[in-house]
Amino acid sequence: MKQQVVTIAGGGSSYTPGIIQAILDNQNDFAVSEFRLYDIDAQRNDDMYTIIKWMLNKQRFNIGLTQTNDPEVAFTGADFVFSQIRVGGIEMRKVDEKVPLKYGLVGQETCGLGGFSYGLRTIGPMIELVGFVQRYAPDAWILNYTNPESIVAETIRRTYPKAKMLNACDMTISIETTLCENYGYDRKNWIQTYYGLNHFGWYKSIFDTSLGRDVMPEILDKLKAAPLKEPEFHRGDKFWAEAYAMMSTIVTDFPDNIPNNYLEYYLYPDAVVEQSDIEFTRADAVELGREKEIKETAQRIRETGRNGELNHDFGAHGQYIVDMAVSILNNLHRRFMLIFPNMGAIPNLRQDAVVEVPAYVGATGAEPISLRQPIPDMHKGMMEAQVAAEKLLVDAYFDHSYQKALEAFTLNQTFTSARKAKQVLDALIEANGDYWPELR
Ligand code: NAD
Ligand code: G6P
Ligand code: MN
Repeated sequence: MKQQVVTIAGGGSSYTPGIIQAILDNQNDFAVSEFRLYDIDAQRNDDMYTIIKWMLNKQRFNIGLTQTNDPEVAFTGADFVFSQIRVGGIEMRKVDEKVPLKYGLVGQETCGLGGFSYGLRTIGPMIELVGFVQRYAPDAWILNYTNPESIVAETIRRTYPKAKMLNACDMTISIETTLCENYGYDRKNWIQTYYGLNHFGWYKSIFDTSLGRDVMPEILDKLKAAPLKEPEFHRGDKFWAEAYAMMSTIVTDFPDNIPNNYLEYYLYPDAVVEQSDIEFTRADAVELGREKEIKETAQRIRETGRNGELNHDFGAHGQYIVDMAVSILNNLHRRFMLIFPNMGAIPNLRQDAVVEVPAYVGATGAEPISLRQPIPDMHKGMMEAQVAAEKLLVDAYFDHSYQKALEAFTLNQTFTSARKAKQVLDALIEANGDYWPELR
């Protein structure tokens, strides 16, 4: 098999070592001749270059490594592009989280008005990024992790409907790994059926092939009996411990399906706001954690040639997206949750919604499955409203429309108040400045 050239867009991300390590661990199925780190921030890219160079040397891999901010250098001849950019960086993530909170609304990276703030910032750069790949590497697969995934997928559905791009989220695999660690199942035996929007969905069944039955009912009973403990890869992270524990609250009130933990922002927004601290949100924790660790590690390697304590194990995150590439390259038809235009996958939901459903991935890309049954009204109602809100937001970008943006904000499923929607929209226009399109 040809040795692959892999470009990581957003090379400076702290997820890069986890993805690279997963590729290094899979050289039999995914042989690589060159890694390229592409980032608009030269300092962050150089920090990561230093760390990855150290990893390759330590493990004695003879694989090329390039860092660049030039798209032509980054993408020409690339076979895979792993996309994980954060438009506006951690500083703007703070804005996304804190401005809505100031008005008593959920402040979150991808959900609620914070997610919409991030979405309006990300649409332009993602169109540009996918455009670069179409120009310099039209045959490359783009495996996208960049958030907010629903807005990104809706944007690319409109602008590059034929792009070879798969949009993935690591949350379902994180939930499944956590369930398996807590309750003693093996995820390898699972055939999961799940549906929703990104960070907004429900399991329909989890068939365990070794047990020969759907284990979702017994898992629901266990979730109701006691909250989940956080998994190995998030051990000690208070934020994730709370997020997983929240799943028990959700199933106590809504007992029929295992939920995505992100539903807490839509089902219990008032409780989330009460528990939030505007002085120290998730972005502050990430800044003091991963961000600092990457900078310090790169500096230590430059000064001493030693890595020290960098933990590049991000659990399933890197492995999940690498498994997808392996499944494409080797035509394995493995099953993944991915984000697609609906087109009948969820029969009673509008066809042009972007939804997250299982799909089989092989040499021609992904083939989503159809549920072939309608979803319940509660889920459909929530999803229809949220889909409309997301579509209005993307309309607002293309039409430069303040009115569409206001409608999007008002319809967002984390609250109901046109007055607050307008206040937060105006505050976010101010805070995002040139990151946002002009809204008239
Ligand atoms: P980060 O800020 O640490 O890293 C992102 C990098 O992207 C930065 O180095 C930044 O300079 C670079 N960048 C920004 N704009 C760019 C552009 N236009 N072109 C090239 N590079 C650019 O962020 P992070 O916390 O590592 O997260 C990266 C992204 O991955 C975010 O969008 C995050 O939400 C997403 N993410 C998604 C999932 C998922 O489940 N889909 C999981 C984890 C992270
Ligand atoms: C999960 C979600 C991602 C999200 C991330 C945030 O992995 O699936 O979409 O970006 O969590 O994690 P962080 O540690 O940056 O808060
Ligand atoms: Mn996600």
